[in-house]
Amino acid sequence: MPWNDERSNQFITNVGLITSEGPFGPNVMACEWTHHISYHPGLIAVCIRADDATHENIKQTKEFGVNLCATDQSVMSSIAGGYSGSNYDKISALKELGFEFYKAERITPIMIKGAAVNIECVLSKEIIIGDHTTFVGEVIEASNNPDKIPLAYYGGKYWTINTDLIKPSVRERERIKKVVEKYRNDKKITY
Ligand SMILES: Cc1cc2nc3c(=O)[nH]c(=O)nc-3n(C[C@H](O)[C@H](O)[C@H](O)COP(=O)(O)O)c2cc1C
Repeated sequence: MPWNDERSNQFITNVGLITSEGPFGPNVMACEWTHHISYHPGLIAVCIRADDATHENIKQTKEFGVNLCATDQSVMSSIAGGYSGSNYDKISALKELGFEFYKAERITPIMIKGAAVNIECVLSKEIIIGDHTTFVGEVIEASNNPDKIPLAYYGGKYWTINTDLIKPSVRERERIKKVVEKYRNDKKITY
């Protein structure tokens, strides 16, 4: 499915603002393919194209910051995702536009103030899958901003999630449970 295709546009994603250091200097890119994939150990996967400056930075220094973009940071996402660190000093441009950064606790790349979540990662695995490289980072430091809401990305646009769906009534939930229980069918597989 190509980029911006109406089928791939059905995925609702976060925007990870991935900070890195390396041959391209301090940098930040937007990465919607940012996923929490393990609790213990804490692992985060980010899928990044080989010709992005962030790709080379992570390959060289084996560290990256995952800053989940908050709803009031969509401009930062557009800049981080619309320009490359191979041609632009995005960090300086973002600072001039009023965005703030802070020194990470345990990694060299700087982190983004006011993000919904800040996670410091050291590279644990690097896998080429299709047209992107999946960098799996082990979480060595993490904190969140409870007053911030993570930005959602859907259909090529930014959204805020602020309406939760009404649960079915207790009666309806009991009815649903009864139907499911009718089809209980325990299976034991022996190898
Ligand atoms: C909202 C948004 C999400 C993006 N998600 C990804 C992604 O998941 N993976 C990727 O490789 N590029 C993604 N991009 C594109 C990169 O952010 C873009 O190529 C950027 O210029 C790379 O920066 P760099 O060369 O400084 O690393 C996304 C762009 C935007 C605007």
